[in-house]
Amino acid sequence: MTKLSVNINKIATIRNARGGNTPNVVQAAIDIENFGAEGITVHPRPDQRHITFRDAYDLKKVVKTEYNIEGYPSDDFIEMVLNIKPHQVTLVPDKPDAITSNAGWDCIKERVHLTPIIKQFKEQNIRVSVFLDPEVSQVEAALACGADRIELYTEAYASGFSHDKIAAIAPYKATAQRATELGIGLNAGHDLNLENLAYFVHEIPEILEVSIGHALISDALYYGLNNVVQMYKSKLTKHSS
Ligand code: PXP
Repeated sequence: MTKLSVNINKIATIRNARGGNTPNVVQAAIDIENFGAEGITVHPRPDQRHITFRDAYDLKKVVKTEYNIEGYPSDDFIEMVLNIKPHQVTLVPDKPDAITSNAGWDCIKERVHLTPIIKQFKEQNIRVSVFLDPEVSQVEAALACGADRIELYTEAYASGFSHDKIAAIAPYKATAQRATELGIGLNAGHDLNLENLAYFVHEIPEILEVSIGHALISDALYYGLNNVVQMYKSKLTKHSS
């Protein structure tokens, strides 16, 4: 069954707007797990405009499910992840000033860069996932770099969903099929929401984990965090499109 990992960056964004500790990011992670989420994801960016490096350390002490840290593998990011030793690190190729992740890795061009970094994490028993566009050749390249999993960048799926969901998911299905043949695990994330999530996992049931932030935290403004965790989980468990 596909696991739900909740990305809590947006909770830190609200906190940072006032400079205090409301809402409390650590308490939110504890509560989100108690509400049934199977993982917590954070994406500390170089300017620490939402999740800070300090948050990433504090969360390690409380997260009891799966802790996933995403980010660009700069020297300070690598050092932090090696110190914290989360269950999973998701490597993302975004520039320091990116508003949000906006492309997957080119694992063919970046092989020399990524291979020793991935090795370092794996030596510490940290599972490594790499963020990828849905391209079959990139799956093979990610495996060659040593990645345990790929995270499919679902923005293109999400933006094409309402127009033509069959066409929108086609490249993801092809990429997932190749990943399964090669024995590399599959995660997915970006712009997944209550409308497009069920169809995605119904069509690609091999997805091990989705990480969802923006839509889920936005929905929580209307329904509350407890309810939205249930609502997203029911989209994963029923596999109803
Ligand atoms: N996966 C990665 C690599 C991301 O950078 C993000 C956004 O931080 C997400 C998943 C979650 O995307 P969203 O906030 O649109 O759910």
